[in-house]
Amino acid sequence: MFGGRGFSTGLVLATTILCAYSAPALEIRAVADHAVTFQTIYVPPATYNTPKTLYARTVQLADGTLLATWENYSPEPPMVYFPIYRSTDKGETWTSFSTVQDQVNGWGLRYQPSLYLLPQTIGNLTKGTILCAGNSIPTDLSQTKIDLYASQDSGATWSFVSSIASGGAADPSNGQTPVWEPFLMVYDNQLVAYYSDQRDPAHGQKLVHQVSSDGITWGAIVDDVAYPTYSQRPGMTTIAPLPNGQWIVTYEYGGGPNPRNAGYPIYYRISPSPLTFNNATGVLLNANGTIPSSSPYVVWSPSGGVNGTIAVSANSHSQIFVNTKLGDASSWVIYSTPQAAAYSRHLRVMDDPDYLLIMGGGPLGGDNSVTDSVMKLPNL
Ligand SMILES: *[C@@H]1O[C@H](CO)[C@@H](O)[C@H](O)[C@H]1NC(C)=O
Ligand SMILES: *[C@@H]1O[C@H](CO)[C@@H](O)[C@H](O)[C@H]1NC(C)=O
Ligand SMILES: *[C@@H]1O[C@H](CO)[C@@H](O)[C@H](O)[C@H]1NC(C)=O
Ligand SMILES: *[C@@H]1O[C@H](CO)[C@@H](O)[C@H](O)[C@H]1NC(C)=O
Repeated sequence: MFGGRGFSTGLVLATTILCAYSAPALEIRAVADHAVTFQTIYVPPATYNTPKTLYARTVQLADGTLLATWENYSPEPPMVYFPIYRSTDKGETWTSFSTVQDQVNGWGLRYQPSLYLLPQTIGNLTKGTILCAGNSIPTDLSQTKIDLYASQDSGATWSFVSSIASGGAADPSNGQTPVWEPFLMVYDNQLVAYYSDQRDPAHGQKLVHQVSSDGITWGAIVDDVAYPTYSQRPGMTTIAPLPNGQWIVTYEYGGGPNPRNAGYPIYYRISPSPLTFNNATGVLLNANGTIPSSSPYVVWSPSGGVNGTIAVSANSHSQIFVNTKLGDASSWVIYSTPQAAAYSRHLRVMDDPDYLLIMGGGPLGGDNSVTDSVMKLPNL
């Protein structure tokens, strides 16, 4: 697990030496993106509840600083919260920075955090505001509520902004009515909150979004993926823009058809607008017979040729699934990574888009810790 440390330290020294020789300009040189091999971010104490950590996420600020969070299974009371860790060396070392605490429900912030840097002003939320949406759930798991928090000071302090959606017990059985798994994105001058929704009696679970022009008032629920068979459970929206003006969403498709009988095969849809995925056709992610399964995450990098590179992570694989043909169904290729598989493992394209950050909070039911790697895209 610590195998990468010596190598990484060497790179830091190299950077330092470069700085020393670049005198007389004494500016602090920004740390360049570089490989980081399976670095430990956080090891929870033994007192934590299983799985201790899960579901890692990051956001990158304009100066290159990375902030990270995850589901954090600390003993209660006090209320559970989302930790914020910070890296100023592009994912190599991390220190505790702040926490996002439930300020309105008295339940804690328990599951499925998401982080997002506002690329433009939305209402009173100025450009550069960091948003954190996550699932506030009481200790007895009797309710779910996707709440939105904001930081105007680079992640040091956080304030409640609004509540996006409320649902029933945090129980993924069909027939229960929770909401899950928010994903935030600005599109067409509005903030869009995507999430998984079990409240519609016609669908065990479906994927939906709501839009807001100020981050406070949220519009109607719009379906993104909703299958006619009640028991089927599309889940876990993540979205990336493509260079041809299209948008890709990946999701796990609980009960979805696939030749390996995977329980939660990864599907994707491509649409001219990220608000109309329900009109697009779902495609099975099939890499020459390998079918990834469960909790996908998709990103797009401009590196890797005229079409750039789509990269997808899934719970079933340490590897990533790469497509340099804009999502063409027969063009998925598997590449190894230095990072272990994890439930809802996170991807981020770095400032230098040749580099991909992969972060995990461990598997379901594990005795987990939080780790990351940064690797050069494997197809360059
Ligand atoms: C924005 O801030 C102004 C001034 O504090 C306040 O009057 C207004 O209600 C706020 N708007 C929203 C949408 O929060
Ligand atoms: C989506 O499809 C429906 C039904 O075909 C159509 O009425 C609607 O206009 C479409 N929406 C968009 C945004 O294309
Ligand atoms: C796909 O799988 C088949 C059968 O295992 C193999 O012969 C073929 O080389 C593979 N193609 C690619 C592009 O990996
Ligand atoms: C880019 O994507 C298109 C659409 O799939 C494909 O036809 C083309 O071959 C791709 N270009 C390269 C260089 O892979």
